[in-house]
Amino acid sequence: MAKVVILSGAGISAESGISTFRDSGGLWEEYDISVVCNYDSLDKNEDITIEFYDKRRAEIEDKEPNYAHRVIKELKDKYKADIAVITQNVDNLFEKAGMSAEDVIHLHGFMPTVACRNEQCSEVYDIGYKALSSFNDGKCPECGTKLRPNIVFFGEAAPMYERLNAEIKKCEFFVVIGTSGNVIEVNSIAAFCDYSILNNLEQSSAIAERDFDKVIYDKASNAIETIAQDIHNFLEA
Ligand code: APR
Repeated sequence: MAKVVILSGAGISAESGISTFRDSGGLWEEYDISVVCNYDSLDKNEDITIEFYDKRRAEIEDKEPNYAHRVIKELKDKYKADIAVITQNVDNLFEKAGMSAEDVIHLHGFMPTVACRNEQCSEVYDIGYKALSSFNDGKCPECGTKLRPNIVFFGEAAPMYERLNAEIKKCEFFVVIGTSGNVIEVNSIAAFCDYSILNNLEQSSAIAERDFDKVIYDKASNAIETIAQDIHNFLEA
C-alpha cells in the first residue's frame, strides 16, 4: 500500500480542455444527470445515453495531458510503490502522459473502453475514440449481448472503490486535486491522514478546509509544483 494517495477529479483535466461537471458551464448544466448518468439511463434513455458518451469519447481524442498530469507521472515513476494515483476521471490523460493501466486507478470507469451488459460476461473492449455502435454493431463479440459505455453510473456498483478504501487505510499523505467533493467525501479521508493538501480552483460547498493542512486555490498546473515538492520532502525525509 502507498504512503501517498493523489485523488483527482475533473479539475485536473480542465486545463486540457475537458469540461468539468459542476462548475459553471460544466456538463451537468448542459445535460440532465438523471437522464444520461443514472443506473436506469440505459433502460429508459438508451439512445441519448449512448450518444452522450459517444460524444465524450470523440471529444477526448485530441486532448493532451497538461503539466499536472505529467508531473504526477514523474512522481509515480520515481516513487512507484509509495504513491497511489486514483482518479474519478474517465479520460485517458494520465495514460497519454505515459502512465500504464496499472499505475492509474479509475474509480468511475474508462471512456475509451466499452463493456458487455451481460453481467455473467462483462467483457471489456478498447474501442479508442469510436462510436459504440461502430464496434461489432454495438454487440459483445464474446456473447452477442449489447455493449455499454464502461462508465459507472449513479446508483451502480463501483468496484474500484475497494482499491480506494484499501489505499486510504494506509495513507499518510493525502492530496486532492480538482474535485468538488460531491461524490467522494474527502474530508473524512483528510482528517484520518497525517498530512493533506487540497487543490481546487475555488472553494467548494462540499469540502471543509479545516481538515486540510494546506489549501491551494489555483490551477492544478500551478499548484502541482508545490504539491510535488511537498511529496518529495515527505518521501525523502
Ligand atoms: N485546477 C484545479 N481545480 C480545478 C480546475 C483547475 N484548472 N478547474 C476546475 N477545478 C475544480 C473546481 O474548483 C471544482 O472543485 O475542479 C472541481 C470540479 O468539480 P466537479 O465538476 O464536481 O468534478 P468532480 O468532483 O470530478 O466530479 C465527481 O461526479 O458527475 C460525477 O462521475 C462524475 O467523476 C465525476 C464525479
